[in-house]
Amino acid sequence: MKIILIALSTLVIVCAIPQQQQGQAQAPVEIVKQDSEVDVNGYNFEFETSDGTSRQEQAEYKNDTDQQGLLVRGSYKYVAPDGQNIAVSFVADKNGYQPTEQKDGQNQQPAQS
Ligand SMILES: *[C@@H]1O[C@H](CO)[C@@H](O)[C@H](O)[C@H]1NC(C)=O
Repeated sequence: MKIILIALSTLVIVCAIPQQQQGQAQAPVEIVKQDSEVDVNGYNFEFETSDGTSRQEQAEYKNDTDQQGLLVRGSYKYVAPDGQNIAVSFVADKNGYQPTEQKDGQNQQPAQS
């Protein structure tokens, strides 16, 4: 019985170790900034987390001859798993979602689908 318990607890420990070793020990990601405002004319929000991710977006409601609906502008940034800094700015309006991606400082237009 003791041997089974020891074997079981060893198995539990062995199973637990690889999960702790996967990926480098990292501090939990925290929200370091968060703001938002919403009203009938539009909205804006932003947040930033301690892992280098951030996002901000603002929208205004348009109702004129040019456009009826939201005109949205925003951007987001994050560090990709390969360490690359990804930054995307976008406009979303009557012409759809129009992103501009900046990879490590370079400016490039993502392929249109
Ligand atoms: C948008 O503008 C039109 C024309 O002025 C008006 O009739 C309509 O009520 C407006 N829509 C909204 C949601 O404000």
